Amino acid sequence: MLRFDILTVFPEMFNSPLSSGVVGKALKNQIIDVNCIDIRLFTDDQHKSVDDYPFGGGGGMILKPEPIFKAVDHLKQKSALKETDPIILLSPQGRKLNQDQVEILATNERLVLICGRYDGVDERVVKHLVTDEISIGDYVISGGELAAMVLVDCLTRLQENALGSAESIKDDSHTSGLLQFPQFTRPSVFREWKVPDILLSGNHEEIKKYREVESIKRTLQRRPDLFHGVDIN
Ligand SMILES: C[S@@+](CC[C@H](N)C(=O)[O-])C[C@H]1O[C@@H](n2cnc3c(N)ncnc32)[C@H](O)[C@@H]1O
Repeated sequence: MLRFDILTVFPEMFNSPLSSGVVGKALKNQIIDVNCIDIRLFTDDQHKSVDDYPFGGGGGMILKPEPIFKAVDHLKQKSALKETDPIILLSPQGRKLNQDQVEILATNERLVLICGRYDGVDERVVKHLVTDEISIGDYVISGGELAAMVLVDCLTRLQENALGSAESIKDDSHTSGLLQFPQFTRPSVFREWKVPDILLSGNHEEIKKYREVESIKRTLQRRPDLFHGVDIN
């Protein structure tokens, strides 16, 4: 089972994504476990402050280090978080996530995900607590929660038995290094648009070849950069 401990100031944001689809089913079937921890529970002051003004001035607030360190200490003491378990900060400054990294991360048994907010987190969290920083792309979102959900989703679908037999990972875009071939379902003619004859032929060998060619064509058209290092023999 893959366990996620997610440190956040908005644990309620996870309710819906964790209750639907592949992730919802994986939770129900105990393929994954998700423990959302409200960082506010680890504050000492009356106002339960998780953020403060940045030294040196500037517009936004910064997540304080103490509640985040305390929450991780709590996980070590109460739920046997190991020194070797990765502690990941979701950050636009992290390494950009791709399917190769997803496949490596999916082999872990436990991951701590720290969701930043406001103008980010105190640098001492980055330097002295976090083992990895991951970005979901070169753009900025308002908090790490959506990025953490992305990570939970893509790692969950690679767990054994997480997907039904109808869903296949091996042909997915980025899994073989290419984009997936175009897909069609019934009806075979919709308005005046007909499904390619080959897909209706029942000739599995020819269908396989057609899909391989389409996959290469599509990748060349849309993402020629993906061809670096791909073996298309
Ligand atoms: C508004 S952002 C702060 C950005 C920060 N001021 C900077 O320029 O690096 C608030 C939080 O959202 C999350 N976040 C924003 N963009 C992200 C991205 N592309 N990938 C992962 N997390 C992101 C991070 O946890 C970040 O601490």
